Amino acid sequence: MSQIILTERLKLRPWLDTDAEPFIQLNKDPEVMRFFPSTQTTDETLRQIDRIKKHFTDYGYGLYAIERLDNHQFIGYTGFAHPSFKSHFTPCIEVGWRLSKDNWGRGFATEAAKACITHGFDILGFNEIYSFTATINLPSISVMKKSGLQLVGEFEHPILPEGHPLKTHVLYKISNKS
Ligand SMILES: CC(C)(COP(=O)(O)OP(=O)(O)OC[C@H]1O[C@@H](n2cnc3c(N)ncnc32)[C@H](O)[C@@H]1OP(=O)(O)O)[C@@H](O)C(=O)NCCC(=O)NCCS
Repeated sequence: MSQIILTERLKLRPWLDTDAEPFIQLNKDPEVMRFFPSTQTTDETLRQIDRIKKHFTDYGYGLYAIERLDNHQFIGYTGFAHPSFKSHFTPCIEVGWRLSKDNWGRGFATEAAKACITHGFDILGFNEIYSFTATINLPSISVMKKSGLQLVGEFEHPILPEGHPLKTHVLYKISNKS
């Protein structure tokens, strides 16, 4: 089964060794990580890449590295993961995204998300795909809405402590043929 998804402007693909350096820098950017509890160290990013690669080996899909077709630059990821925490909607397939700041505001995230969702339904055979983020992450919520996901409700993220500003999350979902 192909692990490459092509869109008009992007190639979504498994990770190359050359993706590590730009991804390390992306994860050290406080603005990119402002809706996460912290930025990531080099070691944390390298471990994350190992986990992503293992996920592709185990399942045949995962968080795809995004490469721009015009300049072949690595700009972040979009794709699928299995949330590791317990909740009323887990286990499930989650779609997520993280792009470098200089690639925001060009529609790349939504273009990649839509293509992933189509691939998830048509090729991977998913029945439903969830997405969630802190209620204050409006750019990510906008990608969810533009990609056809619909609001299910809110939940308190179990990993974050009581009172943490990112604790309350919105949950969105899209069903096949919805
Ligand atoms: C969430 C995130 C990926 C959104 O990126 P983004 O670039 O704002 O999202 P989009 O791809 O939808 O592009 C948005 C804008 O591009 C503009 N745009 C420019 N050219 C465009 C084109 N050719 N096609 C479509 N939109 C275009 C649009 O006006 C759109 O803005 P609007 O929705 O206000 O109209 C980005 O903010 C990010 O990486 N954040 C940090 C990580 C993060 O929080 N991830 C989510 C955790 S759950």
